[in-house]
Amino acid sequence: MRINLKVLKTSTFRLAAIYLVVFAISTGAVLGYVYWNTVVLLQDQTDDTIGAEVQGLAEQYRQRGLTGLLDIIKERSTENTGSIYLFTNFVGRRLAGNLDGLPVGAVGKEGWIEFPYGVRTKNGRDQHIARAYHLKLAGGFKLVVGRDVEERRELARLIRTALFWALGLAVVFGVGGSFLLSRNFLARIDSISATSRTIMAGDLTERMPVTGTNDELDRLAVGLNEMLDQIERLMMGMKEISSNVAHDLRTPLTRMRTRVEAALRSGDKDDQASALHSILQETDQLLATFNALLSIAKAEAGQARAGFEEVNLGELVEEMAEFYEPIIEDEGGVLELKVSQGVVIAGDRQLLAQLMTNLIDNTLKYGRDPKTNVPMVTLQADMIDDKPTLIVADKGVGIADEDRDRVTERFVRLEESRSAPGNGLGLSLVKGVVKLHRGSMTLADNKPGLKVSIQFIS
Ligand SMILES: Nc1ncnc2c1ncn2[C@@H]1O[C@H](COP(=O)(O)OP(=O)(O)O)[C@@H](O)[C@H]1O
Ligand SMILES: [Mg+2]
Repeated sequence: MRINLKVLKTSTFRLAAIYLVVFAISTGAVLGYVYWNTVVLLQDQTDDTIGAEVQGLAEQYRQRGLTGLLDIIKERSTENTGSIYLFTNFVGRRLAGNLDGLPVGAVGKEGWIEFPYGVRTKNGRDQHIARAYHLKLAGGFKLVVGRDVEERRELARLIRTALFWALGLAVVFGVGGSFLLSRNFLARIDSISATSRTIMAGDLTERMPVTGTNDELDRLAVGLNEMLDQIERLMMGMKEISSNVAHDLRTPLTRMRTRVEAALRSGDKDDQASALHSILQETDQLLATFNALLSIAKAEAGQARAGFEEVNLGELVEEMAEFYEPIIEDEGGVLELKVSQGVVIAGDRQLLAQLMTNLIDNTLKYGRDPKTNVPMVTLQADMIDDKPTLIVADKGVGIADEDRDRVTERFVRLEESRSAPGNGLGLSLVKGVVKLHRGSMTLADNKPGLKVSIQFIS
């Protein structure tokens, strides 16, 4: 296996390493505490036992004198209990006990000492450590009482070794564990970047791998996948639009070409003049379509939001009415106005005016009373459900339920409307402007006719 050094640079590994250090320090502290306590406890115990025995012997000395003490020491020295005794006279000669001679350090009146001494074992002699209390008695006699503490030291050594092993293993497992963990993490990151490269190479249907554990990487992948879905949808939309545009421009261009060809062939001055005239109309129409498409694209891109200003919808509606009222009344129709005060939003005044124009334009084209053929239009600017709302309604044929979603798409015109002038982009622009203002639009039955309501956020 090739060790991948990239692993060491991952944030998981760094995190695991920090965790490991903290873990090692706390484990070390706990073990150290246990070690220290055990050692101190054992030493205290030994000291207590020795202290008690010294006291006992001193008592014997007072009661039974020198010989009594010597007897007891001789008796106790023969038992192999790990107890250490020595009783010497004023020149340091041993009178009783199992120590060969006075240990180094046993000077002064009394005190604690630790010293090495020889012990007879099955296979010869061994050096052990002893802890003892020494004191001087009257007449220059010296008493040393102690215990073999080799076992205690052995235990301390054991605990110490255990401590180092525990720490060592914690570090080894920690390092190994975090290495594996980070490698796993890295593998998933690698697969995510591999997938993104595939997607960038053009395969938009590819998706990030999701393991199903719902961890942070999974959530990241799910988020990215949602974004990819959205991008795919947008791309599909773009494709559709461009094919729509291509299709819609081909018809008028073909028409123009035919006209030009016919005019050239006929050679008649009048024919050519009328051909030029109709071509001029066609190009105006094409330019209008292009402008509408550009406006929609601009509105949908959302860049115009930077130029938002305070727009009073009531005033806007009144301005529109001022312009359209003479036109409607000329045709014998009625324009009804319902305007409340203080219906104000942040928006793009020009695009909102374009929105109103498109809607009113539609009422003039499709909102005529089927019997009398006069336009009956209602314009309203109001607070409805606490939200600034614009309503444009008519008494025409309306739009069937199943067509209401469709008509807001680009270039969609219902069959019965084909005779009226238009490019099918009016409602698309309305929808784009509404989206730009983060509002919502509903098309409803005005019984009869169409009622378009646009709700803005307050
Ligand atoms: N007020 C209305 N009443 C009935 N139908 C309408 C109304 N407004 C729009 N429509 C239908 O929706 C279609 C799309 O409208 P629009 O996008 O403005 O395109 P255009 O006006 O160029 O036809 C229209 O062709 C028409 O069929
Ligand atoms: Mg229209």
